Amino acid sequence: TLVSSTPMLRAASRNGYAVAAFNVHTLEMLQAVVEAAEEAEAPLIIQTTVGTVKHLGADYICASVHAASKHTKIPMALHLDHCSDFAMIMNCIRAGYTSVMIDASAYPFEDNVRITRKVVEVANACGINVEAELGKVGGVEDDIIVDERDALLADPEECAVFVERTGVHSLAPAIGTAHGIYKGEPNIDFDRIRAIREKTAVPLVLHGGSGIPAAQVKRSVALGMAKMNVATELRIAFSDAIKDVFTAKPEENDPRKYMVPAKQAVKSIALAKMELCGCIGKA
Ligand code: 13P
Ligand code: ZN
Ligand code: NA
Repeated sequence: TLVSSTPMLRAASRNGYAVAAFNVHTLEMLQAVVEAAEEAEAPLIIQTTVGTVKHLGADYICASVHAASKHTKIPMALHLDHCSDFAMIMNCIRAGYTSVMIDASAYPFEDNVRITRKVVEVANACGINVEAELGKVGGVEDDIIVDERDALLADPEECAVFVERTGVHSLAPAIGTAHGIYKGEPNIDFDRIRAIREKTAVPLVLHGGSGIPAAQVKRSVALGMAKMNVATELRIAFSDAIKDVFTAKPEENDPRKYMVPAKQAVKSIALAKMELCGCIGKA
């Protein structure tokens, strides 16, 4: 069944685990994460970026995810990841997305509040979850000087005011993670996660899930992260498995064959991330 991500995230937040959210780009990737969730009896958030919506079409994505949801009793949400375009958000809600992210984090605080508030007003009328971002995820380098780093990360006091003024359902505060694979280890500000958690009541979202060492994921979840986004590791596993097939068998031309190990690779990573999030058996 396809549901809003709000109840899933609230349950996670209340009970000290996180829901794993996976960015998918193909039907096989979608099937892989659904199979993983079924096997793990875990709640599932399937997400697509704006680029994927443009690539596949919101209608195709919704139809596929609705079909997947009919095959399982696992609660599933379909989420639009990092979108700064109001029209695109409306388009996806109309197509059947049950959760959206308005990412106005590039704008000054007051603009972020105003833009996010507008999305929340519309989404509330449709029972859709809205995630917003404060601070800047990504581009945060380990060797960045402290003042600069501090300016990029979310301010706990501001998080409280932001949630209060926007009515947003979930919040992605920048706390030192980045998209993609890290050079070395991420520099996560755990005290900041704790402080934000203490000041805000909404579920918190950990972006940049690929490449975070297991212990650091667990610690972030223990401190209050209720959703973890994973994109890059799935893409790498999927693509590497296909490359391996073509290396061993350059003449292969049957997607029904070369997609099989690719799907399996995505499923294994999804299961491993669910384990780290502590969401196994929570469906
Ligand atoms: P990764 O690519 O590091 O997994 O980040 C995913 C993400 O945050 C998607 O919003
Ligand atoms: Zn992200
Ligand atoms: Na990452």
